[in-house]
Amino acid sequence: MNDLTRRDLFKTSLAAPAVVVAAREAQGPAAPPATAAAGPGRERLLLDFGWRFHLGHAADAAQDFNFRGNFSKTGNFGPVSTLLFDDNDWKAVDLPHDWAIELPFQNDPALSSKGFYPLGRTYPATSIGWYRRVFELPASDAGKRITIEFDGAYREATVVFNGFYIGRHIGGYDPFSFDVTDFASPGAKNVLLVRMDATQSDGWFYEGAGIYRHVWLVKTNPVHVKKWGTFARAEVRPGEATVRIRTEVENHGKRAESTRVTSTILDAAGRAVGKAATAPASIAEGGEHVYEQQVVVKAPALWSLVERNLYKVVTEVEAGGAVADRYETPFGIRTCAFDAEKGFFLNGKSVKLKGTCNHQDHAGVGAAVPDAVQYFRIRKLQEMGCNSLRTSHNPPTAELLDAADELGMLVFDETRMMSSNPEGLSQFENLVRRDRNHPSVFMWSMGNEEGTAATDKGLLILTSMKAVSTQHDGSRLVSMAPNGGNNMGKFGFAACDVQGYNYADPQADAFHKANPKVPVMGTEQVSAVATRGIYTMDPEQGFVGSYDPYTTTGRASCEGWWSFCNARPWLSGGFIWTGFDYRGEPSPYQWPNIGSQYGIIDMCGFPKDSFFYFQAWWGSKPVLHLFPHWNWPGLEGKEIAVWVYSNLDRVELFLNGQSLGAKDMKKDSHLAWNVKYAPGAIEARGYKDGKQVITTTRETTGPAAKLALTADRNEISADGEDVAMFAVEVRDSHDRYVAIADNQVSFRVSGQGQAIGVGNGDPTSHESDRASSRKAFSGLCMALVQSTKAAGAITVEASSPGLTPASVTISSRAVKLRPQSAVWERAVPAGEGITGLWRPAPVAAGAGFGGGFGGAASQVFTFQQNGNALAGTVEGDTPTPIENGKVDGAGISFSAANVTYTGTLKGDTIELQRTGGAMGGRGGRGAPAEPAGPRPAIGPPPDGTDPSRGVGGGRGPQTPAPMVLHRAKR
Ligand code: GAL
Repeated sequence: MNDLTRRDLFKTSLAAPAVVVAAREAQGPAAPPATAAAGPGRERLLLDFGWRFHLGHAADAAQDFNFRGNFSKTGNFGPVSTLLFDDNDWKAVDLPHDWAIELPFQNDPALSSKGFYPLGRTYPATSIGWYRRVFELPASDAGKRITIEFDGAYREATVVFNGFYIGRHIGGYDPFSFDVTDFASPGAKNVLLVRMDATQSDGWFYEGAGIYRHVWLVKTNPVHVKKWGTFARAEVRPGEATVRIRTEVENHGKRAESTRVTSTILDAAGRAVGKAATAPASIAEGGEHVYEQQVVVKAPALWSLVERNLYKVVTEVEAGGAVADRYETPFGIRTCAFDAEKGFFLNGKSVKLKGTCNHQDHAGVGAAVPDAVQYFRIRKLQEMGCNSLRTSHNPPTAELLDAADELGMLVFDETRMMSSNPEGLSQFENLVRRDRNHPSVFMWSMGNEEGTAATDKGLLILTSMKAVSTQHDGSRLVSMAPNGGNNMGKFGFAACDVQGYNYADPQADAFHKANPKVPVMGTEQVSAVATRGIYTMDPEQGFVGSYDPYTTTGRASCEGWWSFCNARPWLSGGFIWTGFDYRGEPSPYQWPNIGSQYGIIDMCGFPKDSFFYFQAWWGSKPVLHLFPHWNWPGLEGKEIAVWVYSNLDRVELFLNGQSLGAKDMKKDSHLAWNVKYAPGAIEARGYKDGKQVITTTRETTGPAAKLALTADRNEISADGEDVAMFAVEVRDSHDRYVAIADNQVSFRVSGQGQAIGVGNGDPTSHESDRASSRKAFSGLCMALVQSTKAAGAITVEASSPGLTPASVTISSRAVKLRPQSAVWERAVPAGEGITGLWRPAPVAAGAGFGGGFGGAASQVFTFQQNGNALAGTVEGDTPTPIENGKVDGAGISFSAANVTYTGTLKGDTIELQRTGGAMGGRGGRGAPAEPAGPRPAIGPPPDGTDPSRGVGGGRGPQTPAPMVLHRAKR
């Protein structure tokens, strides 16, 4: 069964709320892939697998592969950019990759925003990362446009291809791409080299380091759809929708082309529901043309939070009578509107925005979040009733938006740089062009808490930014997240269609009274801090108790915010700071905290108590959540605040069977009792319409005795990308969750999976996320396990000294892999004697122009010994076959490309003498001619030969020094 795609499996979850599963089933077959797919003339190959990685150095060229700019000559970047370069000591990595989370924490206050990982100017040895990837292009790619697309990399990329410096990109969140056609070698191996410099920062939060999003190899015909060059904008009327389709086509060919565009709209089942073709237009060589079309879709299936109906436009570009490009654009048909009195409307129905702000890192993986984890995170947010998220404070990875489209989550899509400088406008333009077809994206955010927005210059900047969104979209409103609410509607905020405000509820009230015709949406709310499973303030440890009023920021509590918001129909909703905990910005304490505690969910995805407040008042299913836990040795007889989050009518509390009274639940509120602690059981019984419907109990447990292990999905895709989350709960001998346990748990993964990271949600933990073991925190920890590309079972065993271990097996199912560039490895022959790969001893780093950058990156010798016969290749610029090869005891002789090699095997090395040919490698010279007659005392000899050669220390006739070969692995 190969028909399931990886995306189908992402969408399933054991933990998915019932409503989501039901809606998915109603949706029928697979949603269309959310990125342009392959078709005639176009290939989009994932380039994530088979990279090599090495740290460089920001201050020392010798430790930075001699990088000094290397811009002196085109195509001459240096040995590190060549195929022959020995990257054997580079680590094998797959993307997405974030090297920062592998670094040891440093207690340096300057690193607080970076989560205490050593990055930045004062950590030059850990702030630069080099990536190499070799791939083959078939000869049939000649004539194609070849582009490398980066979805995002942190933070300054220098891209080199086949030894050619290609370009730089600055900005850690902005997708970028390079057309490398002129530098590509069809029919050969191509070397992509990327130097990532993570010295500089954007954020006051953790941002990661390296190529932490996908990379793609895109091939097209010279006439093709421009990058992000399609836009399907639906206008909905009763019973039908007009889809306006804009298509930008480029001609990179050598002559003008007559082109036309046919757009077919397919529904989720793949049925064509509308089609339009343009008249032909001539596009000049190097030119482009924008086609506008309209297609009416009758009885459209609207995209909503519950029914995630997606369509796609299939664009066919004809040039010279043949289809030159086929391009797919998923989109949705829906309407979004704001009403100043009634708030936000989706498809004409009022929807309160129950939102969270989120940064992009996750436990175990840092900023390099696999697609499956994006789906996991959105499902978790949905479990608490969240229906919208703000991508604070940067463009998200594209797959987050795919997940939002497919699972039903609205997105307030934010750019990083609020500026009308070229970089700022280009970042915003990229965001709008890339994301404008996603139905989940309902509004653009032009920035966060930018002081300049509240100035006259801010108005100019934001007006220019808004013009970008109008030009490339025009269907969505713009807003931003102001610092507070004092300047709502003024200065730059006057350019916002919807007035946002961060935290300032009273000012928002006042603004609405004074401006009843302006829509208002909270852009950042609450900032409540809590440590999962902890109920006391402990500054020493770095913990904050989980009772809601402990905001520590002086801002609203969860309940304070939501009861304010829910009581005001004009307020469209808002975005709580934050859905998930994140690294960096440790709050309210510094070290030993390495991360924030603002999340309603911890960094692993384990809910904190306030999660259930929102589940009760945002969701529709009955909730009865009781806290704290009931293990308080030493506090016998002391009062403990016992809280209940519930949406039932009435709750009665019992301690060891004794009623402590029943209370009516007030809307958007909680219930609290002060209870004198006695070990045993605290129990809440919840009533709805007079009937007892839920009982929740917390018991005093015995000591930790066993582990319980669960996976979030019991089947994942065997694509080397999918991830299942394995959660461990520490239990006592009666199977009761021990909420105070901190046992060290080890994970062992066998079968077709590998552990890619661990976490426990402890914001003070200094254990590495890249490990196979993690302490439980408040009784829980987690391992993230990724599939291999082979189908089969994946078994995870969790063990801890003295506890009964647990094990869970899930299956990894064969799926159609998404198109990808094959991993290339140099073949290493196996066999007798000297059979294998051999490389000369490395050239000393920095050995002048020739040695350091322009000179040969040496050679690779591939030997195949067969008795006394020796075959193989000598690989310089291209591999040349070995001729007349002989092995006689320790004596070796052969020739290749007119050079004769004779040598001796000495242990693990071969010493080789070369004669004949051009020995200097690339750019080497043969021995100079000797002058025919006597030299004059001054000046050249009569035959004109160069007197500087062969005299006074000049270069004499070259007899190359023996070459010493070592066995190599790559
Ligand atoms: C906001 C800011 C967020 C975060 C938060 C912490 O002012 O926009 O990025 O720093 O405060 O409370």
